[in-house]
Amino acid sequence: MPTAVSLFSGCGGSDAGVIAAGFDVIMANDILPYARDVYLANFPTTDYRLEDVSEITTFPDAELLVGCYPCQGFSQGGAREANRKINTLYLEFARALSEIQPKAFIAENVSGLRRSTYRHLLEDQLKRFADAGDHGYDVYWQQLNAHEYGVAQERKRLVIVGIRKDIGAPFAFPVATHGPSADQPYFSIREALEGLPEWPAGEFCEDPFHWYYLSRNRRRAWEEISKTVVSHMRHMPLHPCSPPLRRIHTDKWEFETDAPARRFSYREAARLQGFLPRYTTHGEDIVFPETVSGGKKDFEYNMMRHRYKVIGNAVPPPMFEAVANALPDIWG
Ligand SMILES: C[S@@+](CC[C@H](N)C(=O)[O-])C[C@H]1O[C@@H](n2cnc3c(N)ncnc32)[C@H](O)[C@@H]1O
Repeated sequence: MPTAVSLFSGCGGSDAGVIAAGFDVIMANDILPYARDVYLANFPTTDYRLEDVSEITTFPDAELLVGCYPCQGFSQGGAREANRKINTLYLEFARALSEIQPKAFIAENVSGLRRSTYRHLLEDQLKRFADAGDHGYDVYWQQLNAHEYGVAQERKRLVIVGIRKDIGAPFAFPVATHGPSADQPYFSIREALEGLPEWPAGEFCEDPFHWYYLSRNRRRAWEEISKTVVSHMRHMPLHPCSPPLRRIHTDKWEFETDAPARRFSYREAARLQGFLPRYTTHGEDIVFPETVSGGKKDFEYNMMRHRYKVIGNAVPPPMFEAVANALPDIWG
């Protein structure tokens, strides 16, 4: 089994995909305690280092390096400042790449990185990765739509793949498996949420729908794919059991009826991210530990926030599995 090291691993979305593609993730890392807790509840054999990546001085050898550095700097929901320190965490990824010199790497980031304001950051990443280590890497990048790989959600992400130059194997991004150009239709909300209760009390954010929430249509129907799952629970899209919304003004929507409305629960958000039972080592839905930070119980409201956050931050496992499966067979 080829080995992988993962950075910015969160609760394990990217790693679940890589594991499903046949890799053994020997080391993972993040600074978020509850992300570590969820990860280890579902993938217990990985050495998960809970610390700032810049504190890690040595990395184990591995054939694949995976990293989804944070994106607050250039995501739609973030502050969009091109110079924030968080935007340069890719330098840590480049440092690990130079030290480990894996045969291949996969990095992921938000698609906003392609915009002109941030383009210099993308160019810098591509150059640093191409020059990393003794041999350098052939680097490929593409924007992928998660729903084209069986994820019941709109989620565009920029994926960067590198193959060590001395190996000399070409790479092509995976073709869509779902949608009009593929064999299978998009995976719908209904399919993703199959078997889950329709009103999971205590598992969804019940904060009021304030004006900002109702400034756009947050609801999709059962047979559609969901709008993007985000990490802030107040901004989570609506469950299709909610009444439809109608537009009454520019940036102003209201529910068509007074029937009960609710956001997706954190468990449903996990399914919409593609965390289906087949992606965990126990073969069931992803487990959310009751406590955070090794036994410390937080307020219920905060536990819910932690859960939504780690799931909203995650990379959809099916999309990462498709990318990992598209890597050339260079492991023998
Ligand atoms: C886009 S998320 C990665 C999601 C993860 N790959 C997954 O699929 O679940 C980025 C992660 O980087 C982590 N992070 C931010 N700054 C970090 C740092 N200095 N060192 C390590 N991790 C950091 C965040 O806590 C967050 O979980």
